[in-house]
Amino acid sequence: MSDKVLNQFTQAFQEEKKTPTRRLKVGIIGCGWIAESHVESYKQMDDVDIVAAADLIPGKAEAFMKRYGVEGVRFYPDHKALIDNEELDAVSVCTYNTQHAAPTIYALEHGVNVLLEKPFTVTLDEAVEVCRAEKKSGKLLSIGFQPRCDVNMQMIKKIVQSGALGKVYYIQTGGGRRRGIPNSTFIEKDTAGIGALGDIGCYSLDMVLNAIGYPRPLTATGYKSAFFGTNPEYQVPDRFHTAEENAARFSVDDFAAGFIRLEGDIILDFRIAWAMHLDTPGDTIILGTKAGLRIPSTGCWNGSVGGEMTIYHDLAGVCMEEKVPILKDDGKGLFYKKIRGFLDAVINGDPAPVPSSQILYNQAIIDGICKSAELGKEIEINIPEI
Ligand SMILES: NC(=O)c1ccc[n+]([C@@H]2O[C@H](COP(=O)([O-])OP(=O)(O)OC[C@H]3O[C@@H](n4cnc5c(N)ncnc54)[C@H](O)[C@@H]3O)[C@@H](O)[C@H]2O)c1
Repeated sequence: MSDKVLNQFTQAFQEEKKTPTRRLKVGIIGCGWIAESHVESYKQMDDVDIVAAADLIPGKAEAFMKRYGVEGVRFYPDHKALIDNEELDAVSVCTYNTQHAAPTIYALEHGVNVLLEKPFTVTLDEAVEVCRAEKKSGKLLSIGFQPRCDVNMQMIKKIVQSGALGKVYYIQTGGGRRRGIPNSTFIEKDTAGIGALGDIGCYSLDMVLNAIGYPRPLTATGYKSAFFGTNPEYQVPDRFHTAEENAARFSVDDFAAGFIRLEGDIILDFRIAWAMHLDTPGDTIILGTKAGLRIPSTGCWNGSVGGEMTIYHDLAGVCMEEKVPILKDDGKGLFYKKIRGFLDAVINGDPAPVPSSQILYNQAIIDGICKSAELGKEIEINIPEI
């Protein structure tokens, strides 16, 4: 049979799978800053109704939906009330980090699929609990790493998986900002739990771990500091606080570094900063036995590729450098794609686009860095069975 005939079947199958049988009912848990990107994406989808929203702050969910012109929404004071009173296909969990685990577990236990914002959780213990609840529920959980939808990020994985680098043995990743401490709920232990390490560190970890197939982390030597966030000189005022107040509230890390041993004899050398006296602590580099890959860092470090990548390899005994040009996306936007990918997986019964089984290892590294930093020595990373 010719390829043309076979391809017709492939296309017909894909189209058939993508046809939703009914409209999806979606709820938003946490109506703060990032919920906007979720709502704006759902609004563009003609098979989705946003039917419910919850926020701990009285009136916030109502004002939020009014601002984004979403009508017919029922409002609740917290995630439990929302889940208890609605029949939903899915929720977006857009709460601050310390409130990632509880709403996600509650939703899964009540048969609701979950798109959870990054970072996965604050601690490894919480991530393990979430994974167990997911397994028991049989529902779908995807973690909100929209850089996975970036064609340039996908190119990194394609290069590594092609075998062009040979055996990967050393990775340097991370990055950060010279001045870029966020405010709001990001800087307090009670709400954020972790600082730059979780906020932007989780992205750079995912960039490289996803590319190399998420090997299990074995040990961690970690370091954390907060010299900038706690100093009013480097703080900025916001709508509710002076710079001095923000410095006093600051109770998470603004810099973290880690040296991680991964299964397969791979070393991961990592550093991340919300503030530092440097433009960047370095590009991401992946060293292999056949070639090395340099991925330029960005000034912001929000999980993107900072410029054209370079592959260093030998050809006929000569040292060569090959540029990988920046690829253009199709313009739909990474957030739209992450949310659509999650919903399509729910509709089609496909695996989660960003599975918790992978991000569990991301969280284990973050947790390992925290624990090692507290103890002041290398620690073993023990990940319980799910
Ligand atoms: N993917 C991205 O690009 C991206 C960007 C920014 C933030 N985030 C992540 O999104 C999360 C939220 O960030 P944000 O800036 O929107 O925070 P935010 O503080 O502006 O909003 C969080 C909201 O959740 C509410 N909330 C907390 N617990 C709740 C509960 N149990 N039930 C109902 N409401 C609850 C809070 O009252 C608050 O209004 C963070 O974990 C952050 O890391 C992701």
